[in-house]
Amino acid sequence: MSRTVPYQPVLLRLLHSAIALLVFGAIITGFMVYDRYDKRFGTLNLPIVRDTQGLHGTIALTFLIALPIFALYCFHIGSRRLVQPQSLQHLQEVGKPIWWISLQRLTNTVMLLSGTLAVITGRMMQEEWLPSKELNQPWYIGHLIAWLLMILSIAMHLLMSARVGGLPLLLSIYNWKIHAEDMPNTWFKGFKIKPSNTILLIFEILVISGIAIAFILPAIYHSKNVGA
Ligand code: HEM
Ligand code: HEM
Repeated sequence: MSRTVPYQPVLLRLLHSAIALLVFGAIITGFMVYDRYDKRFGTLNLPIVRDTQGLHGTIALTFLIALPIFALYCFHIGSRRLVQPQSLQHLQEVGKPIWWISLQRLTNTVMLLSGTLAVITGRMMQEEWLPSKELNQPWYIGHLIAWLLMILSIAMHLLMSARVGGLPLLLSIYNWKIHAEDMPNTWFKGFKIKPSNTILLIFEILVISGIAIAFILPAIYHSKNVGA
């Protein structure tokens, strides 16, 4: 298991930092919304911020727009950091270094799936539900579950990256060092239109169609409900 400082491509660092900031922003402001209107599973009694839902909605919508860009990067340029065809087989080699690496790649992939679930359920939420105490709306419960999954998968993502490459790997994604050849004109050189393997193709279909559903479904669903 290598403990040398790995080099992360600038494009990955840029996209990943934006995504990580937006996810943390959505998790925190989402919790603030919960803490203001729900509190069923415990509360921190945070001070009330004006228009908490609007704040969450803005950060979350930016995340929704950034997610497909990051996902396309991951599937078509950074695919070696996601699940591999041999991953299932390696997952049986419990405790070996390759087992940890396969788990790390699996959790990287799961991050994209939990983000997708959060955006679908969030887009289906209605702003009026929580202020009017409609706390058992299925999309809201789904959105709370997505929030929990997001936290659990970030914890796994950090633990696995720490296990595989230690602090140097964790910090490498926030490093400022830039290789001379890593310039915008070379960023898309590694772009492969063809999916790296069938498993990744399935994950990509799930993520990209999930994001498309998040964009389209609210318009169809809500216009039908207004008409009813
Ligand atoms: C306890 C946690 C959370 C709660 C209570 C919560 C609550 C809400 C509410 C009430 C809305 C509707 C706001 C509006 O329409 O203006 C919403 C929308 C949304 N949420 Fe969350 N949220 C939480 C966590 C998250 C997380 C972790 C993400 C993503 C990482 C996320 C992504 C979204 C998205 C994409 C929307 C749609 C925004 C839009 O279309 O304008 N939420 N959420
Ligand atoms: C403090 C927070 C975070 C840290 C320190 C961190 C760290 C890392 C590191 C070190 C890698 C590279 C792994 C490697 O080279 O093998 C990575 C990749 C990745 N991270 Fe994070 N991460 C964080 C938050 C997040 C969040 C919030 C997401 C949400 C979507 C995320 C999604 C991913 C994905 C999908 C990859 C694989 C990228 C690729 O395919 O090229 N990370 N992360």
